[in-house]
Amino acid sequence: MLEARDLRKSFGALTVTNRVSLEVARGERRVLLGPNGAGKTTLFNLLVGELRADGGQILIDGRDVTGLSVDARARLGLARSYQKNNLFGGLTVRENLSLAAACAQGRARTPWADSLSDRGVAEAVDEVAQRVGLTELLEVPVDTVPYGARRRLEVGLALAARPRVLLMDEPTSGIGPGGIHAFHALLRGLPAELTIVIVEHDMDLAFEVADRVTVLNYGEVVFDGPPREARDSALVREIYLGTWDGDA
Ligand SMILES: Nc1ncnc2c1ncn2[C@@H]1O[C@H](COP(=O)(O)OP(=O)(O)OP(=O)(O)O)[C@@H](O)[C@H]1O
Ligand SMILES: [Mg+2]
Repeated sequence: MLEARDLRKSFGALTVTNRVSLEVARGERRVLLGPNGAGKTTLFNLLVGELRADGGQILIDGRDVTGLSVDARARLGLARSYQKNNLFGGLTVRENLSLAAACAQGRARTPWADSLSDRGVAEAVDEVAQRVGLTELLEVPVDTVPYGARRRLEVGLALAARPRVLLMDEPTSGIGPGGIHAFHALLRGLPAELTIVIVEHDMDLAFEVADRVTVLNYGEVVFDGPPREARDSALVREIYLGTWDGDA
């Protein structure tokens, strides 16, 4: 479904993505792990096309998309959510979702008021709000929405495009245990056929949702395998030493 072959990216002398290859099957839940600065976000930026790779290939459904724009990849079903909140402050949850849905439906040039009242957009908004547990908060300005809900909205913006592949960059960063619990429920409620790659630092959540785990370190894939093997891997433990006791 989503494949990277020998991807490379450097910023000046710093190699941030070093011959990364991975293959994510349709409907798979892939967890991407790695310490700060390992190159996880950069890999997402390369996959969606926000950054150009220096070398290597990216394929969606076997089709080489390496030269395609962000928009063209999005039309093939690729979407991502951001590590840092990327919401339109001052607008309500509904308005944020409507904008995302309108853009995804190719209505970016439609006058704003028209897209808000458009049926296709409204339906997408209701569906997504339900999925991310924000139905009750639709009319609330995002600035006054609790932090955990804002993180879920971030995922909702990506879902509004009705993607086939969703990349989520630390969707639970900064939220407490209750928020992680709510997020876990959100993940379980996503369609089984949706392919998901998720950067997640909460090990319990990561190992519970993952079909497979990929670990990046200094831009390189140092582990790729089932969560049970990741748990038992001395290398993975070493990389996470201090942040995870391994017995949780
Ligand atoms: N645009 C850029 N220009 C120069 N260096 C960059 C740029 N983007 C990222 N880097 C560097 O690349 C490395 C990898 O960064 P990246 O954000 O991909 O890591 P990460 O695994 O997502 O880390 P974190 O867990 O902190 O989010 C870091 O050393 C970072 O400083
Ligand atoms: Mg990052």
